[in-house]
Amino acid sequence: MGPSTLGEFMIRFEHVTKRYADGTTAVDDLSFEVAEGELITLVGPSGCGKTTTMKMVNRLIEPTSGRILLDGEDIAAADPVELRRRIGYVIQQVGLFPHKTVLDNTATVPHLLGRPRKQARARAAELLDLVGLDPAVHGDRYPDQLSGGQRQRVGVARALAADPPVLLMDEPFGAVDPVVREHLQNEFLRLQSTLHKTVLFVTHDIEEAVRLGDRIAVYGAGRIEQLDTPATVLGAPATPYTAEFVGADRGLKRLAVTPVEAADLEEPPVVRADDPAERAAATLDTAGAPWAVVLDAGGAPYGWVAADALTAPGADRSAPVRALARPMTAALPLGAPLRQALSTLLQHDAGWLAVLDGDRYLGVLTPAGLHGALRRATAADATDLPREEVALDSVPSTGA
Ligand SMILES: Nc1ncnc2c1ncn2[C@@H]1O[C@H](COP(=O)(O)OP(=O)(O)O)[C@@H](O)[C@H]1O
Ligand SMILES: [Mg+2]
Repeated sequence: MGPSTLGEFMIRFEHVTKRYADGTTAVDDLSFEVAEGELITLVGPSGCGKTTTMKMVNRLIEPTSGRILLDGEDIAAADPVELRRRIGYVIQQVGLFPHKTVLDNTATVPHLLGRPRKQARARAAELLDLVGLDPAVHGDRYPDQLSGGQRQRVGVARALAADPPVLLMDEPFGAVDPVVREHLQNEFLRLQSTLHKTVLFVTHDIEEAVRLGDRIAVYGAGRIEQLDTPATVLGAPATPYTAEFVGADRGLKRLAVTPVEAADLEEPPVVRADDPAERAAATLDTAGAPWAVVLDAGGAPYGWVAADALTAPGADRSAPVRALARPMTAALPLGAPLRQALSTLLQHDAGWLAVLDGDRYLGVLTPAGLHGALRRATAADATDLPREEVALDSVPSTGA
């Protein structure tokens, strides 16, 4: 394998083992790779070796055997201080300096790296803004004047200060309440979508792992049981351990990580809101369809119209379709998670949803389409799990 192949991975573990002095094997012959710009969540119960894995990357802990490459280079040969400049580190107890303001806490690293103080502070203000803290409001406060969530944000800003290509995050949102945690997760996802850092993110919370990870590594004792996309881990757990860890409701969890795709959509007849009812009735008649989607002149969905409404005895057949149509109550962007689709369907008690790409109407999602989309995630299922267990996720077909 040549260096160019190695360069594809920002972080590479090669048969890494860590045995502590008391004989505990915390990490056992671990090999995996993290692509540049990828966010991998390490998830597993307490004591399974997640933190040990992470601390070996910035050399707070040295492996007993094996090696770790960063951007193709063996980190054992790197100067630890120089190494850590390339690796941002965020932990649960952020460890802000209590006597320094938020702005100065954030500016510490750039300042240490030799930036003039004024420039370091300007950079710090930018970073605070980036993590959703207004530097004008929060910059002059002290850490104990912040909420837990705000302190975690400062921790993230500080880790980003030297603009490292790699971020290690060890349960960074573990100590805040669930509502704030969800907020922080969303903000971090937004941030990552522009920064594209290579991230190892430790959590013991499968929901968090699934929500944040491009891939998730499910840890057993010192080993990775499965490393794959959230949809695959949930849809096709590789081992009984993984199936148990991700939970019996993994079918439901999969709703959150499986997007609505164009192939899931149905295409009922389409009529224009300004067309005369008569023409729309003919379109429906030709298609043999009971209803049609109504689009306005610009192609955006207006609503739907039933064949019955167009041909009712009292209906004015020269009137525009819009006079007989029902307005659209619910629509969904393409790529939205199935959970949002299901929730919208339930909330509006609707039999279908219009799916849009921007303003453009693409088709409709029905409960059957949603079910088909969910099955898609298990289609490539190559596990040795008993079939009955896999089938638990899907509603038996009624034989239609
Ligand atoms: N310094 C240490 N000395 C001895 N054992 C340790 C030390 N640090 C961690 N361990 C043990 O190594 C295992 C993995 O720990 P850790 O990596 O912290 O797990 P996690 O982060 O998944 O909770 C645990 O059994 C833990 O008790
Ligand atoms: Mg830990």
